[in-house]
Amino acid sequence: MVRPFKDEVERYGHYSLAAESMYDHPFQWGSKRTGPDLARVGGRYSDEWHIAHLKNPRDVVPESIMPPYAFLAEKPLKAGDMVAHLKAQRGVGVPYTDADVEKANADLVLQATADADATDLQARYPKAQARDFDGNPAMVSELDALIAYLQMLGTLVDFKAAEAQEQAR
Ligand code: HEM
Repeated sequence: MVRPFKDEVERYGHYSLAAESMYDHPFQWGSKRTGPDLARVGGRYSDEWHIAHLKNPRDVVPESIMPPYAFLAEKPLKAGDMVAHLKAQRGVGVPYTDADVEKANADLVLQATADADATDLQARYPKAQARDFDGNPAMVSELDALIAYLQMLGTLVDFKAAEAQEQAR
């Protein structure tokens, strides 16, 4: 989301930096948004809050106009093709290692598993989070994947490096 206004920086945190999206395929920056900017939402709410909010936004924000996404909890995540996805991303310049590609399917399951040993995962993906996100350890669901994504948003950016880059320019 492109948002240069001071009040938005105060409400949502630092505006998005180009470096954060350099490996996005497709590239999706734009200037239309309904609802708050989610670029820095990672870690701001608990997993339980996200479960409740996605199942029925009005349970936690009574005036919300956001649609419910309760069905995500019932849908098993289609995860079998992660190796192909990573290979395709690598083909367009994303620097995944051979180990990342080889372990892609296992990494995904591990990221949604309670009490998982994430040492190897975090050595390759520093700050990666691994736990059962949706409160249902029996299945890796689409809700697991969405909450895992939301909880990472904005948590990897290095503002010091970005500042140095901006000053150099
Ligand atoms: C899967 C898609 C979506 C996800 C993951 C999502 C996620 C979120 C999250 C995490 C918040 C809280 C943000 C904060 O408090 O800073 C939020 C709020 C909001 N979203 Fe969504 N949203 C989705 C779809 C939509 C859609 C389609 C609309 C348009 C109608 C919408 C409208 C809103 C509004 C108005 C709020 C503020 C009120 C509230 O917290 O419910 N969202 N959304």
